[in-house]
Amino acid sequence: MPTVLLTGATGYIASHTWLALQAAGFDVVGVDDFSNSSPVVLERLAELSGRAPQFERASVCNAAAISGIFARHRPQAVVHFAAFKAVGESVERPLAYYANNVGGLVAVCEAMQAHGVGRFVFSSSATVYGQPETLPIREDAPVGATNPYGATKLIGEGVLRDLGRADPAWQTACLRYFNPVGAHESGRIGEDPRGVPNNLMPYVAQVAVGRREALTVYGNDYPTPDGTGVRDYIHVMDLAEGHVAALRALFDAQGSFTVNLGTGQGYSVLDVVAAYERASGQPVPYVVAPRRAGDVAACWADPAAAAQRLGWRAQRGLDAMCADSWRWQQGNPQGYGAG
Ligand code: UD1
Repeated sequence: MPTVLLTGATGYIASHTWLALQAAGFDVVGVDDFSNSSPVVLERLAELSGRAPQFERASVCNAAAISGIFARHRPQAVVHFAAFKAVGESVERPLAYYANNVGGLVAVCEAMQAHGVGRFVFSSSATVYGQPETLPIREDAPVGATNPYGATKLIGEGVLRDLGRADPAWQTACLRYFNPVGAHESGRIGEDPRGVPNNLMPYVAQVAVGRREALTVYGNDYPTPDGTGVRDYIHVMDLAEGHVAALRALFDAQGSFTVNLGTGQGYSVLDVVAAYERASGQPVPYVVAPRRAGDVAACWADPAAAAQRLGWRAQRGLDAMCADSWRWQQGNPQGYGAG
């Protein structure tokens, strides 16, 4: 089976994708600089897969290091996760986002070109749809960035589109993630945000486990059934399996494509709170605050293109997302920090 280079490999989504790729028979080489992840992930992956992970510590912005990794491991494809992803931080530190997210992507693509590798799976985001005009969101909906983070994802998609136009040897997949949540069903790997979580489910998890007092619900006056924001939450293992399907499609030489990875089902903030209380048996107190700047009322995917093109559909529902998140949170109340 082919060797796949995974960048950002010890991060949340990549670590789950690592297991899914191995389960599908791929050989995986991981690269990360631990700028937003823990080396403990590697121990957990070894435990879960029963073999020592092949890993290289490097920044994707270090072209010489990435080139050396290509020379040593000879990957036939790249799944590129390495990027910063906090919207608020991207507004404060735009250059860090352009340097890492765009510069890193370009450096990896240059190494690929130099080593004759053209298959590339890109972590894009539903953020590229900006303020969606119609729901569910199809891939041909208008795109636009509302912050530097979103801009880096749009630029990344543009770089890959232009590479494909310049040279048909490039076979690229842009995967537009909706809201990844949950954890591996073992509870041994999961999401471990540094500092105060920006995103809903990790915050809810930390309230349930007693690390934080109450959730702040950002707005209950949206035009949604209960007034709170609605999102398309997708189990991280479904998302991981979506990457396997995308990679298989690239090896089957079907050409480049862009697809949504979502469930097609929207849930409100209060739906998530109620589901988490059921899954954990713990109360999740909350206080309602004003809307968060930049948030949309509702956002969910039309997942038909991924089903048709990749034969992939999300399998796990909201209860499994909460149960698996809780297993991880309960077993690792301080994330990977406690070892
Ligand atoms: C956010 C980013 C998005 C990014 C995605 C990555 C913003 C504005 N958007 O999406 O660009 O691609 O994360 O995962 O940051 N909520 C609360 N209380 C909280 C946290 C969230 O009520 O403490 C609400 C939000 O208002 C929203 C929902 O929960 O309605 C989901 O929020 P979140 O998990 O941050 O995801 P997005 O805003 O969809």
